[in-house]
Amino acid sequence: MTVDVENTAPANFAERYESVLLPVIFQPWAREIVERAAPADGEDILDLACGTGVVTRQVVQSGVTPGSLTGVDHNADMLAVARHRAAEAGIEAEWLEADAGDLPFSDDRFDLAFCQQALQFFPDRPRALRELHRVLRPSGRAVFCVQRELDINPLLRSQAAALDAHVGTKAGEAVRAICGLPDAEEIRALFEEAGFRDIAVETVSLDLHHPDGRRFAAGAMGGMHTGDKLSRISQDQQQQCIDDFLAGLGDCFDGQAIRFPHVSNVVEARA
Ligand SMILES: C[S@@+](CC[C@H](N)C(=O)[O-])C[C@H]1O[C@@H](n2cnc3c(N)ncnc32)[C@H](O)[C@@H]1O
Repeated sequence: MTVDVENTAPANFAERYESVLLPVIFQPWAREIVERAAPADGEDILDLACGTGVVTRQVVQSGVTPGSLTGVDHNADMLAVARHRAAEAGIEAEWLEADAGDLPFSDDRFDLAFCQQALQFFPDRPRALRELHRVLRPSGRAVFCVQRELDINPLLRSQAAALDAHVGTKAGEAVRAICGLPDAEEIRALFEEAGFRDIAVETVSLDLHHPDGRRFAAGAMGGMHTGDKLSRISQDQQQQCIDDFLAGLGDCFDGQAIRFPHVSNVVEARA
């Protein structure tokens, strides 16, 4: 069976992220980290590098009534989807375009900050964590998740290999960057140097799935944050790339559905 990559493609990366990647990957992680943080009524909550706002929506879905909700991202397209989805859900939140290294807030503004799958992409991680520490109140909490290495993440490993082979190593590199900060001790040191305390870093593996592996692959590999990866190659090559991706998943693909472990470090710390 073939899948038409173009017809699985919403207009831009942010829309594709929201419709393809979010339900399979980022929504389950949002549930995990919000449950761990257990936000309390009245808390001022920051969603750092919020993307399309899944963590903020999950906070509200958890039943809590926050004091305020604020999402920050440097990508205007992601924020546009975040605004739209929050408005649809009747969620009041402020969405701001800013760099993690230069947060537009006064000191001691938040009780709790989430940062889901983004620390690895920050060009200046020490600066971003110092900024976060500054805007958190004394004893305020930070909860992050950061993807672990490719070797134990079969979905990303297979995606990177298929993109290397069919699109080029730059395309594979974009996937490897997702696993660019896998080491718990390096993460702990970054938090310590930024002034955080009570730092816990724990490996967490979620069992994720999609009922149609081909459809997921076409959507997930066609558009990525570093640009469109598949449309520059022929339809035949696109199908070959998707076939190789699915074959590379081994037991995680049963011929129809995909089911895979998705492994990250979850960081909990206090300012
Ligand atoms: C994999 S997405 C995760 C988004 C969201 N946290 C989620 O769980 O769906 C990474 C996000 O980090 C954002 N990002 C990367 N570097 C950033 C920076 N220096 N400042 C602010 N946002 C950044 C990207 O724009 C993107 O939305």
